Parts: sequence; structure tokens; C-alpha cells
Amino acid sequence: MRRPLLVANWKMHKSVAEAEDFAAALLPLLPPAGAELAIAPPFTALAALGRALRGSPVLLAAQNANPAESGAFTGEVAPAMLAELGCRYVIAGHSERRGLYGESDDFVAAKVCALLAAGLRPIVCVGESLEVRRAGGGAAEVVCRQLQNSLAGVPAGLAAELAVAYEPIWAIGTGETATPQAAQQMHAALREKLRGLFGAAAEAIRIQYGGSVKPGNAAALLAQPDIDGALVGGASLNPESFAALAAESGGAS
Ligand code: 13P
Repeated sequence: MRRPLLVANWKMHKSVAEAEDFAAALLPLLPPAGAELAIAPPFTALAALGRALRGSPVLLAAQNANPAESGAFTGEVAPAMLAELGCRYVIAGHSERRGLYGESDDFVAAKVCALLAAGLRPIVCVGESLEVRRAGGGAAEVVCRQLQNSLAGVPAGLAAELAVAYEPIWAIGTGETATPQAAQQMHAALREKLRGLFGAAAEAIRIQYGGSVKPGNAAALLAQPDIDGALVGGASLNPESFAALAAESGGAS
């Protein structure tokens, strides 16, 4: 039985003060037991949010990292720097980074390996474009290939540390979600790919769904056998709405 994983991806939203206010408002609203919860704020709010969440069931996550340990990489942040701040999860290969900043599968794979080596848990994002979806039929193949290539070099012994997020690009920030049945089909295909890559460890890997998840549609998605949580953008920016999602995902531990 996989414990659901609900992660807030705040993208480029919230100042330090806003992140602190969010934590203060969220914690009393959280339901008592169930899903594992994490918040990925902008880098600038990590330290303050980490302090505000200390002693709570909500974990700290980051939105990105560079695969290198250190060096001349202006504007980048290394995995060990995120571990030092108390991050547990780090999003790797979000479609916005792939699309806007040209991150390739190879680069994402290097990042995933570096995160694992630093003791962090990568959330590896995959998902097809509208073009691929419209072409019909081949989306699962495209997304499974993207997953395999984004996991190149991951040692099987560390596979259970991974989470995967299936985020169809056409569903991100559009208000359009995959139906629970269509999402389940893709998640089952991804699980099969993970079995091929890692054997029995695949059963422990949480596969999250992302793309316009909000209170009201999360429960039906999470009821599917291979949907093990959600990666949430817009609906995670408001404490009431994130708490409602935590309740639909099975609460906090
Ligand atoms: P929305 O929930 O705003 O559609 O964003 C999804 C996402 O990209 C989470 O990583």
C-alpha cells in the first residue's frame, strides 16, 4: 500500500512573508492523518518556510536543482545546499523547465542521480504535449520513453526513493484535467515501465498526477489504483484549498 504524496508546487509565487503567513494559516486546518505532505516554495522562501513548518507534518521541497556539486553555474543551486535547508523532496524536470529553459531528458537524469546521491528524493516529472495527445494513440509510448530517459543511471537500490509526477502539459494551469480513467491508464503504463527498469521496487514508487488538480477533483483521481498523490500548482497557493486537498488525499500524518 503506497501512502499518497501531496506536493504544493508554488512555482514563482509568494514572498518570504507570504510563505510564513501561509504556514501559520495552513497548519491548524490540516486533517489528522493520511497523506504525506510537502510544499515547494521559491528558493528564496525555503529557509523561512522550513522554520515555519518545523515540528509539523508538512515537509519542505524544492522546485529544481543543478546536477553539479558546486562550481561556475551562475543562478543555480546544488542538491547539498537544498539538503542543508532541510528539503526532503526536489522536483526534477518539470515541463516548464523542459519547455522554457531547454532541460533535456539527459540533463534531468543527471539531476535525478545527483539528488539521490545527496540523500534527497526526486519528483521526476513527465507528460505529453497537446500535439502528442491530439496525434492519438502514441502518448503513453512518448511519456514512458521520457520517463526511462529521465531515469538513466538511477541505481535500482535507490529506486524506492523516487517519486514520479505525470503532468500532461495540456492540463497544467488550464482548468482541464485528464479524466481519472485516462490518467489511470497512463499511470499503469508508467508503473509497468518502472517494473521493467527496477523490478519489485516499482511497487513502492509513488506516481502523482498533476494538472489542474483542485478540491473537488482530487479524490476521484486518487481513488485510481496507480494514482498515488498529486502535484498541485494553482490550487496549492491558498491554505484552505491546500488543506481541502490534503483531506481529499487522505489527510496528514
Ligand atoms: P496547476 O495545478 O496550476 O495546473 O499546475 C500543475 C503543475 O504544474 C504542478 O507542478
